[in-house]
Amino acid sequence: MKMPFLNNKQLEKSFHYPEDNIPEHIAIIMDGNGRWARKRGMPRTVGHKEGISAVAKIVRAAVKCKVKVLTLYTFSTENWKRPKPEIEFILRLPKEFLSIYLPDLLSNNVRIEAIGDMESLPAYTREAIQYAIDRTRDNDGLQLNLALNYGSRHEILNAMKGIITDISNAKLSLDELDEQQFSGYLYTAGIKDPDLLIRTGGEKRLSNFLLWQLAYTEFWFTDVLWPDFSEKEFLHALEEYSQRKRRYGGI
Ligand code: FPP
Repeated sequence: MKMPFLNNKQLEKSFHYPEDNIPEHIAIIMDGNGRWARKRGMPRTVGHKEGISAVAKIVRAAVKCKVKVLTLYTFSTENWKRPKPEIEFILRLPKEFLSIYLPDLLSNNVRIEAIGDMESLPAYTREAIQYAIDRTRDNDGLQLNLALNYGSRHEILNAMKGIITDISNAKLSLDELDEQQFSGYLYTAGIKDPDLLIRTGGEKRLSNFLLWQLAYTEFWFTDVLWPDFSEKEFLHALEEYSQRKRRYGGI
């Protein structure tokens, strides 16, 4: 079954894609899949599956708007607390997503990356992601980061451990350690901090997502549940972002 794909000419005509003041890096907390399904009297997993189509639509919109980096919170370190069948269902989604959309991602010059602790993920998730990373390695369009088994506190703690190890091996000097060097120890090393964070599903919290990286990011919240999140809302977020004045603590 082929779901909405990235080059949908009909949709393209109905939207105005802004060209100025586009955030280079957008991070999204995709929340509300479970409620979307429950509202329809269906199991929560139906909402997660529907979430895949929303991912495809938003990737397509990000490509059209020439966003450079899109980071999607797909599975958090806290999501292990969910019932086992739901965890397994979510962890099978990257493979399902890529089996449908990888050809479109390739033809749209998208490069896939992953952030998070990949080691503890099941082989079917790791292998699907690694295959996509390898296949898209030479693409230089949108960088699509899938945050999988990602938790920001864990990431920061790991960075601290790496730094302490490098200091004790004299590879790093404590006196010279600065914010830029610290960032280099995070999963997001080399990636510009997000300019815009979008959270769907009505909650207004960060849920352990990119705590270091979001220090100066603009936030945009919507009550729309992730499976209903469409290009229209995405472009609305971009429109509001373009009106914001970013001062980074200055005047
Ligand atoms: C949060 O909604 C969503 C998740 C934990 C899973 C996110 C996964 C997807 C959107 C699909 C997979 C995407 C890719 C890129 C393969 P929730 O379950 O917490 O919803 P609720 O707050 O309504 O319960």
